[in-house]
Amino acid sequence: MNIPFSPPYIDQDVLDEVMNTLQSGWITTGPKVKQLEQLSAEIAGVQHALCVNSWTSGALLVLKWLGLQDGDEVIMPAYTYSATALAVLHSGGVPVMVDINEDFTIDPEKLAAAITPKTKAIITVDVAGWPCDYNRINHILQQNSVKQIFAATSDVQEKLGRPLLIADAAHSFGATYMSKPATLGADITIFSLHAVKNITTAEGGVIALNLPSGFDNGDVYKWMRLNAMNGQTADAFTKTQKGNWRYDIVSDGLKINLTDVCAAIGLAQMRKYKSQLLPDRRRVFDHYCSFFKNKDWAIMPPSKDPDRESSYHLFLLRIKDITEAQRDNIIQLVAEAGAATNVHFVPMPMLTLFKQKGYDIANYPQAYDNYHNEISLPIYSQLTDEQCTFIEEQIEKAYITVVK
Ligand SMILES: Cc1ncc(COP(=O)(O)O)c(C=O)c1O
Repeated sequence: MNIPFSPPYIDQDVLDEVMNTLQSGWITTGPKVKQLEQLSAEIAGVQHALCVNSWTSGALLVLKWLGLQDGDEVIMPAYTYSATALAVLHSGGVPVMVDINEDFTIDPEKLAAAITPKTKAIITVDVAGWPCDYNRINHILQQNSVKQIFAATSDVQEKLGRPLLIADAAHSFGATYMSKPATLGADITIFSLHAVKNITTAEGGVIALNLPSGFDNGDVYKWMRLNAMNGQTADAFTKTQKGNWRYDIVSDGLKINLTDVCAAIGLAQMRKYKSQLLPDRRRVFDHYCSFFKNKDWAIMPPSKDPDRESSYHLFLLRIKDITEAQRDNIIQLVAEAGAATNVHFVPMPMLTLFKQKGYDIANYPQAYDNYHNEISLPIYSQLTDEQCTFIEEQIEKAYITVVK
């Protein structure tokens, strides 16, 4: 067998949508992006969602809107992909990393303890599609003690009166919290539409706005759309309408808009996300569950409880009582047998850049614990039950070879 880790879902509907865009006479930001924004807002349960060309650029835009300044702090879990921290570094901020719970989500008590007068935002991460404890985190952010030490340095911050809660939902499009889209747990949620994500536009991202009263999400959407395209008052599509040539540049905007050609890929997928693609992912997840739940050496990843349901982005299998080196050997043996697996994530404090900046994995014991024995199993629509069985058997075989 030859089982890749995460091939994109490209069916006839995707091909037709892309071809239709290519032949339409308009290929950059235009009607397809608009449709993708409407559909993602609908699934995310919000009124306004802006498409951009990656999660990372979306985070840069949100931090620009917030008015993040040099030296401002942004709290985040140590256990995430480095883009979460890089977006803060690029914005002049300082990533303040805290440890996670065993379920891979940020530890709310550690988050609370890390808040200082310099804290301007929190970025939570729904690792593998499993939502964070948003009620607990919002409760912390609403405490008087947090509001009293908050030192606003921009109009947006003044209006908010507390740190902004941004959800890194790169993995969790379609996840639910308290029977509603998990998006409603944060002020702003950013999805990734990168090639390996549940919905992809090759590269892309969506900013879903759920700001509290006092903010007009429609106005914020307009600000962000303008600042995602050079701060230019008329976008290229509008300018092509006859006689509509005049424009102004009113701010030092970024250039991070999504193109219609890319949006077309995601649009065709998103139309069948809830009816087909998400249930497909759940089928694969459940297949793995029914095999591994009976193995006394397997630690199961979270997927569903009365409050939350995952978007089934990845299956984060953990194996009891193995070392990092044994985990790596298992991955190697399974790869030689024909199946690609992966690790999500190497905690940021273990990566060179962050080590050089003084972060130390010794301060994040749960992050290391979750990482050292973790193997991510592939989840995607095209995976057949037969392939799932093959992966399960190969993992067990490799485990026995390496450990026994
Ligand atoms: C948790 C997390 N955050 C952010 C990102 C960055 O997403 P993008 O590549 O769309 O910028 C990723 C991408 O893999 C991710 O896994």
